[in-house]
Amino acid sequence: MKIITILGARPQFIKAAVVSREIRKKYEEVIVHTGQHYDYNMSEVFFEELKIPRPHYNLGVNGGNHGKMTGEMLIKIEEVLLQEKPHLVIVYGDTNSTLAGALAAVKLHIPVCHIEAGVRLGTLHNPEEVNRIVTDHVSNLLLCCTKSGVGFLEKEGIKAQIALIGDPMYDAFNYYSNSLNNISRTLTGIEEKAITIPDKYYYLTCHRPENTDNKEALLEILKAADSLDSICIYPVHPRNKEAVTTLKKEYGFNNIYLCEPVSYMTSIYLLLHCKKVITDSGGLQREAFFAKKQCITVFNQVIWPETMINNRNQLANAKENDILEKLALEQSLAGCEEPFGDGNSAKKIVIAIEDFFSRKV
Ligand code: UD1
Repeated sequence: MKIITILGARPQFIKAAVVSREIRKKYEEVIVHTGQHYDYNMSEVFFEELKIPRPHYNLGVNGGNHGKMTGEMLIKIEEVLLQEKPHLVIVYGDTNSTLAGALAAVKLHIPVCHIEAGVRLGTLHNPEEVNRIVTDHVSNLLLCCTKSGVGFLEKEGIKAQIALIGDPMYDAFNYYSNSLNNISRTLTGIEEKAITIPDKYYYLTCHRPENTDNKEALLEILKAADSLDSICIYPVHPRNKEAVTTLKKEYGFNNIYLCEPVSYMTSIYLLLHCKKVITDSGGLQREAFFAKKQCITVFNQVIWPETMINNRNQLANAKENDILEKLALEQSLAGCEEPFGDGNSAKKIVIAIEDFFSRKV
């Protein structure tokens, strides 16, 4: 069986690192990188560090408006699919690369497997929600990380095959956080900085257009980070580097330590050693949950309801006071469940794919 995996953005590389390892034990896999994330520390570093097989194709599509980016990807992915004739196309998550991959495949009658299916916020104003809904409704095999995902798909009347497989992000977290000390690597500059900070630091990531295209929102988030009782480390996504640097020049923000985007292992390192997390990332809020670190998600919609218990993950508005008030509440780890599976989702994905093809015959 030949499988084409479509990747394009940071969180997809991390999931593919664990899933591709399992797929390749049995099947031929061709990796297509759309090019959506292209800076060294947004893309290449993940392939090197996580030993993800080199993409067979890099389509070099990035930047521009959603329509242009998705359209160019669609054209180029279709060409690859026509040439490679795969039995299955795998797409991950909710980016423009996900949508383009799913659309290109379904039009060619190639089965689509969507990993991380069924996530819903309930608003089409979020660009990723559009990508999720369309992808789910054209996919043939929908693999959900949590029960809530399965519930949303059933509610929408999706008749395609659905399976609960757990979260491959949890597989990756378990694997790499346990082996962090055993892998021979020297600490990066930011990791060395982190361990010298007394009383620990806060870990901030913030890149969503909802928070960063709006200067006022970004300013409020930075003001909150600046008034914390310890340093806040903030690796800045390229989309908002200019805005953050300008505000830093204007306001000083001496309590915020800015750095370039970090690799996966460095991010896990920063997470494991930090005090609390402030983020708008769907991935980091789950990783904070896995690491049992309290998280404040600066966003107006719940992305992962499973994490929203005992103050472990709380939504905050992009307002200094709201972020600080939520951070002041302590979390409780009592009665913790494991809603993201048992860390074996990559194996379950391969089983689900085999089950899908056995039913088709
Ligand atoms: C995308 C996903 C988002 C995901 C995020 C992870 C969509 C709609 N959004 O958002 O769901 O959470 O990835 O990081 O697909 N840029 C660079 N260098 C890079 C990558 C991007 O300079 O390596 C620039 C782009 O040119 C663009 C901006 O950053 O101007 C935003 O990039 P884009 O790919 O549109 O989406 P993200 O914001 O990264």
